[in-house]
Amino acid sequence: MKFFIDTANVDEIREANSMGMADGVTTNPSLIAKEGRDFEEVIKEICEIVDGPISAEVIGLKKDEMVEEARQLAGLHKNIVVKIPMTVDGLKATRQLTGEGIKTNVTLIFSPLQALMAAKAGATYVSPFVGRLDDLSQDGLQLVEQIVEIYCNYAYNTEIIVASVRNPLHVLESAMM
Ligand code: G3P
Repeated sequence: MKFFIDTANVDEIREANSMGMADGVTTNPSLIAKEGRDFEEVIKEICEIVDGPISAEVIGLKKDEMVEEARQLAGLHKNIVVKIPMTVDGLKATRQLTGEGIKTNVTLIFSPLQALMAAKAGATYVSPFVGRLDDLSQDGLQLVEQIVEIYCNYAYNTEIIVASVRNPLHVLESAMM
């Protein structure tokens, strides 16, 4: 099981990395804005700390905007994974980027069929938001279970990054799946 630390704070990333708990890092524009630093500078620094997949998210909403941004992000470092939102344009962008050899993390997954579509589009990773579902009195972990079953049924290579993790039970149950 891999641990991805969800922050753009380099001190937190160093701390997790020094314990062997940072196999990768996930960021989003809000997390980077919180640091009050230049976007590219932070991403590059994170890539120097952790030798693993580093997710950096696009902000464009249209397919062509996402593809253009993704190419620039992917050019920053070999470990960059481009986070793409789960939308129709996001799926189109994912398909194209996969064809170009750029790794993607399709984020904002709230249903198993969204995860299936993302895998079919060629996503390297999907990020189901378990905590946000729990907030709505839905079962976030059940979503993870469904995605695991679907991906096993059809031997998809897409990896699942359980996101919006809020408590140790989320980690335990995910590890057991
Ligand atoms: O990467 C997604 C994650 O940041 C969302 O987490 O805790 O805001 O639901 P949360």
